[in-house]
Amino acid sequence: MTPTKILIGQVFIVAMIIAAAMWVATGYVAGVFHYDAALGAPWFIALGRPIYYPWRLFEWWYAYEPYAPAVFLRGGAIAASGGFIGAGVAIAGSVWRARQKKNVTTYGSARWAEVRDVVKAKLLKSQGVFLGAWNNRYLRHDGPEHVMAFAPTRSGKGVGLVIPTLLSWTGSAVIHDIKGEKFLASDREFRRARKRLQSSSASRE
Ligand SMILES: Nc1ncnc2c1ncn2[C@@H]1O[C@H](COP(=O)(O)OP(=O)(O)OP(=O)(O)O)[C@@H](O)[C@H]1O
Ligand SMILES: [Mg+2]
Repeated sequence: MTPTKILIGQVFIVAMIIAAAMWVATGYVAGVFHYDAALGAPWFIALGRPIYYPWRLFEWWYAYEPYAPAVFLRGGAIAASGGFIGAGVAIAGSVWRARQKKNVTTYGSARWAEVRDVVKAKLLKSQGVFLGAWNNRYLRHDGPEHVMAFAPTRSGKGVGLVIPTLLSWTGSAVIHDIKGEKFLASDREFRRARKRLQSSSASRE
């Protein structure tokens, strides 16, 4: 929705609130007077009740105020409450519209991910390819899509993403390890595991 449409919509809502309060006040005063014939002809009848034009309250107020000042005071208060509620809604609407300004994408829509984006992308899984960390949690991809990590040389792609992924990978994997770094790492892990195995079997003997 464009800001102009939102503004027109809000103006319409405020006008409706004011008109509704006036109508309720008119209905209240007419009810107190038991829909007397002196109030004039109703606009229409709904569910057996005469319904008057919303502004009739002010005509009756002008003509009959001395006869029942308290009734018109209450009716006037009901009508005025519409003005107060309408003003409140208008202020809330303008604050809301001011906040919408940050969603303007005239100069581009790129932004950092928020919590809901991370959840929507299903990156908080406990398995899959390691992508990084966020708020003390690992971001992991576990889906049929392709994953590409792009970062400067020696920035930690291997130690940060590839090795943790392979250490936790339960399926098969084909590893194109040009520099042999992953082989060395896995060899080191293998030797450590063998040492642990040997020491545990030695302590049992
Ligand atoms: N967070 C870290 N703490 C300590 N050392 C790190 C860290 N990240 C990377 N290193 C060290 O920096 C070097 C490069 O790391 P790594 O091989 O993971 O980078 P790379 O991005 O895979 O590099 P390349 O582009 O050459 O493949 C390694 O010696 C690694 O031990
Ligand atoms: Mg590397």
